[in-house]
Amino acid sequence: MADPSNTNVPRHVAIIMDGNGRWARARGLPRTMGHKKGVEAVREVVRAAGDIGISYLTLFAFSSENWRRPEAEVTDLMGLLKAFIRRDLADLHRENVRIRIIGERENLRSDILPLLLEAEETTKANTALTLVIAFNYGSRDEISRAMRAIGRRIAAGEIAPEAVTPELIDAHLDTAGIPDPDLIIRTSGEERLSNFLLWQAAYSELVFVPEYWPDFDRDLFLKTLEKFAGRERRFGGLTPASILAGE
Ligand code: FPP
Repeated sequence: MADPSNTNVPRHVAIIMDGNGRWARARGLPRTMGHKKGVEAVREVVRAAGDIGISYLTLFAFSSENWRRPEAEVTDLMGLLKAFIRRDLADLHRENVRIRIIGERENLRSDILPLLLEAEETTKANTALTLVIAFNYGSRDEISRAMRAIGRRIAAGEIAPEAVTPELIDAHLDTAGIPDPDLIIRTSGEERLSNFLLWQAAYSELVFVPEYWPDFDRDLFLKTLEKFAGRERRFGGLTPASILAGE
């Protein structure tokens, strides 16, 4: 299906799924409905990413700052994530999707951590799309944890301070082994990274789209990828839309 030598298709796409609350408010609905509709968009985009031949898709599901939201909303988001893993894990596994979780794992509630670990364990040998779920994730927290780990290795005499290179830092981040994102998309018109993949975004193309996350469907995803293809390279390769059209 997808031609891996096609440089117009990003290898790694990361998405800040923003605007669930505003989507709901614009319709006079409770915020929960926006998150619920947001999960449907997640399903559609994960499937499309696999079809297009994207190798890594990272979704910002819950930030370390999201705990500050009202308790009812936090519970709702947790419930949706748990339901997603419970209901969709078998399908994702069947579709050869490998799941990776990034973010702080310590102190996670006992009802969520085992599910996340199970999703990773079940799918670890899969070879199609890698779906990276950023949960309880904050980039500065991730970098701090990496620095502490490196500091401990230096203190133990295992490595010299001179051994600290970008590659060594990469290897201590939650994203170790995952290539940097080629493209970072944020929905809802906000134009900032909000503590998402700050280190990894050094050379990423950034595309901000005005639509709220629940409205982000396959077509919009394709349009956004077209924008990336046009912006970055014009080597005459295939575009994501023409791959899907079987051209
Ligand atoms: C931003 O909308 C969205 C979130 C904080 C959470 C995104 C989570 C999901 C789509 C569901 C669970 C995820 C997976 C991977 C199944 P917002 O509430 O900040 O919207 P607003 O800025 O309009 O208020």
